[in-house]
Amino acid sequence: MLSEMKLRGEKIAMLTAYDYSMATIVDNAGIDIILVGDSASNVMAGHETTLPITLEHMIYHGASVRRAVKRALIVVDLPFGTYQGNSKEALNSAIRIMKEAHVDAVKLEGGCEVLESVNRILSAGIPVMGHLGLTPQSIHKFGTYTVRAKDKAEAEKLKEDAKLLEEAGCFAVVLEKIPAKLAREVAESLTIPVIGIGAGSGVDGQVLVLHDMLGITQEFSPRFLRRYHNLFAEIKGAVSNYIQDVKTLDFPNEREQY
Ligand code: KIV
Repeated sequence: MLSEMKLRGEKIAMLTAYDYSMATIVDNAGIDIILVGDSASNVMAGHETTLPITLEHMIYHGASVRRAVKRALIVVDLPFGTYQGNSKEALNSAIRIMKEAHVDAVKLEGGCEVLESVNRILSAGIPVMGHLGLTPQSIHKFGTYTVRAKDKAEAEKLKEDAKLLEEAGCFAVVLEKIPAKLAREVAESLTIPVIGIGAGSGVDGQVLVLHDMLGITQEFSPRFLRRYHNLFAEIKGAVSNYIQDVKTLDFPNEREQY
């Protein structure tokens, strides 16, 4: 249980995955939570923002991950435009994800603005993870992807929103790209786990985008991103070797044919 992990002081490790093969590896490695993030819009589909991805796409990704995962908790992002309009629409979107992708929970961005939707989804028995701070679905409101809640007013609102989400019954909240001091304060004031991305070490767990931490994506290099591999170079090298082997008739050899 995630809340027990928080109580024990055991940090929660969360990563994104969007497809069967990657989710198999990530689950096998022992990850606690797999987030089928709407960052799929960027890393899988090549869009500049998370806005274009649809509910159907998220269900497709969620169902692919579901087929792979044996032990981790799976959370699927509600995409932009599927929960902000009204709470009935939000509930219908969440129900479709749960029914068609068979996952464990949904995540949505925002605080008091989406509280009615959060309440309605929760009242249908669907677990909800909140997401505050930098909320990429609101990029056109912010105008940039820089650190959020640096000023007092925004920090106060974030603290209030986090409390509202906890009181509503969310089981966890993601804090993205906010000052570490503020994130620690929020984590200490809540009983539910706080998962950070670019929010320092004082929170209850960390999340990264899998393609970023594996070094598959190249251009995205924020300070908080630790790269554990340079898979872009590794895969490129392997593909180059294959091309060369095909062109030089080295592949297939006698043992690789029937
Ligand atoms: O979509 C996503 O990958 C996310 C994480 C950055 C938290 O929401």
